[in-house]
Amino acid sequence: MLICYSGTGNSYYASKTIQSEIGGSVVDIARRLDKNNFNLALDLDEPLGIVFPVYFGTIPKAVREYVSKMKISNNGDHYIYAVMTCGSGCGSAPEDLDEVLEDAGYMLDAYYTLIMPNNALVFMDPEDDITVEEKLSAAEDELEAIVKDIEGRRSGAIRTNRGDFHPERSEEMKKAYAAACDTKLFASTDECIGCNFCERLCPERVIKVYGRTAVWEKDSCSLCMGCLDMCPHSAITYDGNKVRGRYHNDSFYLRSIGIAMPFGDKRPDGWI
Ligand SMILES: Cc1cc2nc3c(=O)[nH]c(=O)nc-3n(C[C@H](O)[C@H](O)[C@H](O)COP(=O)(O)O)c2cc1C
Ligand code: SF4
Ligand code: SF4
Repeated sequence: MLICYSGTGNSYYASKTIQSEIGGSVVDIARRLDKNNFNLALDLDEPLGIVFPVYFGTIPKAVREYVSKMKISNNGDHYIYAVMTCGSGCGSAPEDLDEVLEDAGYMLDAYYTLIMPNNALVFMDPEDDITVEEKLSAAEDELEAIVKDIEGRRSGAIRTNRGDFHPERSEEMKKAYAAACDTKLFASTDECIGCNFCERLCPERVIKVYGRTAVWEKDSCSLCMGCLDMCPHSAITYDGNKVRGRYHNDSFYLRSIGIAMPFGDKRPDGWI
């Protein structure tokens, strides 16, 4: 089984690719959180993959919450691994995840980073098309290697890219992330046409659209940037700024005109 959180599809893509090789199901963390369902029914000795994007060098808020409450229903020997998708490196995310897992009574056996296109386009300029293509192509090879390592049950820090990470700044980064998750920073602009896209794609069901205005109805979110990156009219601002470009992983669009949203009407085969 893989449990996955994703804002713009990179982590969905990684989960789907691993699933297609090793089998099992993919569980959407946001959807499970929404339903307060923390039970993971694994087969005896079935591995558990935790797949998510790195934010501010740490783990997404939703992943932290889910992992802290999850209960594996079969006490077999489960190989627990993390695949962290990130633009350049995972910072202290492995240690942060390990800590949460340990508090929940589990142990992280192995972790992998997967360098993917960066989606934090409020904070940085978009990568050019060639860089995006190169990253996606390298990720394909990397995933092949990761699958082999998972099958071989390798343990420890495998294929781990820390990026420009300074351990002494880790606490400061976590505080900055917590502050950045404040949804008061979001707003929709006059360009909003009320298409409801953001409401339907938000993994945490934070957004409600009234007429031609989107409203962020919970105090905070994990800051996945899906709404900002994918609003068809670039009608969302964050702290007064628009995204400087747009990014989503194509595998996110599983239907020709829609998105495979956690709360959409159709899930791909094998997803629960
Ligand atoms: C709020 C935010 C913060 C991010 N911080 C980092 C970071 O610290 N290091 C990094 O390498 N990438 C960072 N990224 C980039 C994402 O981790 C990366 O694009 C990821 O693959 C997106 O996954 P998704 O498409 O599954 O949502 C950040 C993205 C967001 C939205
Ligand atoms: S996706 Fe954009 S245009 Fe559509 S309702 Fe949301 S803010 Fe408005
Ligand atoms: S409000 Fe936007 S950034 Fe926050 S979780 Fe929803 S889609 Fe992601």
